[in-house]
Amino acid sequence: MSMPRLDSDDEIESLPPDIAKKARALLMSLVRPHSAMIIFLAVIVVLTAALMVIGPVFIADALDQGVPAAIDGDMGPLIRAVTFFVVSAVASAILAFTSTRLVGITAQKILFTLRERVFTHVQRLDLGYHEKSTSGRLVSRQTSDMESVQQFLSYSLFETALAVLQMLFIAVTLVVLDVPLAIVAFAGFVPLFFITKAAHSTQRSAYRRTRTSIAKVIVHFVETMGGIRAVQAYRRQPERRGTLSDQDARYRDANTDALRGVAWFAGWTRLIGNITQTVIIVVGAWLVIEGWTQIGVLAAFILYLRRFYGPLDELVQAFNLYQSASAALEKIAAVLDTDPEVVEPTQPKALPAHASGGAPPADNDAAPTRPATGRSLDLDGVRFAYADGPDVLPRFDLHIPAGQIVALVGATGAGKSTLVKLVTRFYDPSVGRITLDEVDLRDLDDGQLRSSVVMVTQESFLFAGTIADNIRIGNPGASDEAVVAAATAVGLDAYIRRLPEGYATDVKKRGGRLSSGQRQLVSFARVFLADPDVVVLDEATAHLDIPSERLVQNALATVLEGRTAIIIAHRLSTVEIADRVLVMESGRIIEDGTPDELISGTGKFAQLHQAWRDSLV
Ligand SMILES: Nc1ncnc2c1ncn2[C@@H]1O[C@H](COP(=O)(O)OP(=O)(O)OP(=O)(O)O)[C@@H](O)[C@H]1O
Ligand SMILES: [Mg+2]
Repeated sequence: MSMPRLDSDDEIESLPPDIAKKARALLMSLVRPHSAMIIFLAVIVVLTAALMVIGPVFIADALDQGVPAAIDGDMGPLIRAVTFFVVSAVASAILAFTSTRLVGITAQKILFTLRERVFTHVQRLDLGYHEKSTSGRLVSRQTSDMESVQQFLSYSLFETALAVLQMLFIAVTLVVLDVPLAIVAFAGFVPLFFITKAAHSTQRSAYRRTRTSIAKVIVHFVETMGGIRAVQAYRRQPERRGTLSDQDARYRDANTDALRGVAWFAGWTRLIGNITQTVIIVVGAWLVIEGWTQIGVLAAFILYLRRFYGPLDELVQAFNLYQSASAALEKIAAVLDTDPEVVEPTQPKALPAHASGGAPPADNDAAPTRPATGRSLDLDGVRFAYADGPDVLPRFDLHIPAGQIVALVGATGAGKSTLVKLVTRFYDPSVGRITLDEVDLRDLDDGQLRSSVVMVTQESFLFAGTIADNIRIGNPGASDEAVVAAATAVGLDAYIRRLPEGYATDVKKRGGRLSSGQRQLVSFARVFLADPDVVVLDEATAHLDIPSERLVQNALATVLEGRTAIIIAHRLSTVEIADRVLVMESGRIIEDGTPDELISGTGKFAQLHQAWRDSLV
């Protein structure tokens, strides 16, 4: 087995053309519920900026009016100016606290909603989507991209608004204070404008590269950890590490480039700011000497100038964060924009009531003992191909009467798993229909479909939690008695009771020690508890030893009783409990009959059966 290489990253990262618009719409939908808060914050921004700007006015006032008056013995104007200054300083502190706090709370609420929305959406996406895209890509959406949006919303947005407003207010104040000096101060912006323009496009591409490269690092990491058994078994660690460090280096370089832009910009703004100040001092001194300007005005001017050029640094940082965050939001929007191909009906139809009176389990307390017969399953003229691949099932017709146990056999790639994925509606057929008791699967609501048709997968996935929790997945409301009854039915009860903590044993600690047969029994117990009409099972190919195989086989027979079943059989013993055997080849049924009929015949199955027999002796 060769390790899959993820050269298609660029392709999976491709975004729809109108994604910027979609990202904006997404942002609006997230922000709208908080519009009252945002208006409130906008008012705070205006007040804060105004207070910051007004401070030096009091200083100018103190110097130009207060000090001369004090010299003349009138302390009033000076005290008044100082009091205003102190009050504005305190008010500004209170506003800073309030705004930081409220911005934090609001940003976190927005992020919370966004994370939930992405998770819910991703879970709803069809299996086809998940088979196409790597989970690492989704992990990077949910982690690094979220982080980037969060950084911008929590730390940057408010600061940016504040900086812009402050500069605007200062510009107005400068003009009011002294027009010639204001013109000198604004002149500094001319070179800054050109520098910003020049930096803009390189910054943008550097930031795009950081988003893409960090996603690749995460994808690679998740893939490696997900396949750690294979990685270790085939000693691929050096290769995996090599690839990771290549990708990590690209991330490093992209970040370095982005930060170099920031550094250049910071340097230039500082330099231009300082040059402007020097010019202001020279020109201002001359104006004061000539008597055209007062010394207080000049002092205020210099104070303002620091505040005028100061926020530019922040704006540069904010601009970068903004670029990074908007690239991230676009990627998140693209995930949310993907619609599941398998959709729930708007007007679902109900399945007919069970013919034999075996009502579906009405209450969760009752151990699932039901005299049901399962439901009939039909495939009418079904054709299916994956995405843009060739037809896997060219034309498939099949009738399975209620309660029949069908074993599906055939060479690898014959389309067995595909058939099963259609029956469980992980995919919809391209043509034709699949019906359960005459009702099209596409007309069933998801709840009814999932409780009627249950698939037991090869991997018998165990989630973190106790053994009881893992069995209860079949029916989350089931009582402890029902869980025990299900475990007993599949012959797992005795084993569980021998564990130190019994049913409360944490699977995480035990998971590794559960044998593959025991895992399979857990998944059977789940099915028993779920009590579906139709069971679909992709049997593990792993060879169990004969006693375990017997155990699993008995459990399977118990679980399947009174249900319709399709089992992809890899074992002889499984075929033996089936009522009917279907042999598949290239998406078609080539043999169909009872096990005995087929064994005594001369077809593919008879040969296969002989080979099985021989392998047992
Ligand atoms: N997600 C997928 N996307 C594209 N093609 C797929 C996908 N899954 C399976 N196929 C293709 O469909 C064909 C049938 O595959 P399928 O998994 O149904 O075979 P199978 O009979 O279950 O084989 P096996 O016994 O090895 O499990 C194969 O040619 C396979 O390459
Ligand atoms: Mg398969």
